Amino acid sequence: MSNQAVLTSTGLSKQYRDGKRDVQVFENIEFALHKGEAVAIVGSSGSGKTTLLNLLAGLDKASSGCVEIEGQAWDALRDAKRSKLRNEKLGFVYQFHHLLPEFSALENAMMPLLIAGEKTAQAKQIASALLQDVGLGERLDHRPAQLSGGERQRVAIARALAHDPACVLMDEPTGNLDETTSKEIQELIVRLKTDKHMAFLIVTHDEKMLSWMDRAYRLSNKTLTLI
Ligand SMILES: Nc1ncnc2c1ncn2[C@@H]1O[C@H](COP(=O)(O)OP(=O)(O)OP(=O)(O)O)[C@@H](O)[C@H]1O
Ligand SMILES: [Mg+2]
Repeated sequence: MSNQAVLTSTGLSKQYRDGKRDVQVFENIEFALHKGEAVAIVGSSGSGKTTLLNLLAGLDKASSGCVEIEGQAWDALRDAKRSKLRNEKLGFVYQFHHLLPEFSALENAMMPLLIAGEKTAQAKQIASALLQDVGLGERLDHRPAQLSGGERQRVAIARALAHDPACVLMDEPTGNLDETTSKEIQELIVRLKTDKHMAFLIVTHDEKMLSWMDRAYRLSNKTLTLI
């Protein structure tokens, strides 16, 4: 395992302006995720976990501080360059999956590969192998509306992993999954972090997940604390 940092935050703070009031979500978050690591974030509802993931992914702007992906600050990039870097380097599993409703499971999972310029046949092969890995080999042609909540979540996981990103951010990826399916996702993550040195940052309430991860942090009282 290399010690190279994939994602770092320095002095990261976020406040939302809520009418006349400012809501300070967190302050001065110092964090680093390294190659081949799987790190968990826990915290009560409203503690700022999704806000933090969005900032780390360059999807939202910090009030102050800086996020770097492989040494490149999101802030220093123009929109087009930022999107390109995000597509290349990051996989993101949203808390509410965000699949494209008019496309099948296979097409959804192929999307990041096609955006990256992969040939259709190759993209199909990679995406269907991943869908197989998450237990959806029999559901390739189903649209999101024809899938269960847990199945949609697994399509979103396959989609986030398809283009071999350096770093994967997941917001409650196993929230709707039973124990057996969660275990399959765990095995897939462990395989990818070991074989491909992918780095994972996972927001979770799942105690079982915490047991096999490298580190865990709690987000509370506006700070991130190692637990
Ligand atoms: N766009 C926004 N404008 C104003 N306040 C916001 C906005 N988005 C989030 N917040 C507030 O920021 C705080 C953190 O929200 P966030 O969604 O990050 O929490 P969370 O830890 O992900 O919660 P959950 O576990 O319920 O998903 C909450 O108090 C929320 O109300
Ligand atoms: Mg959230």
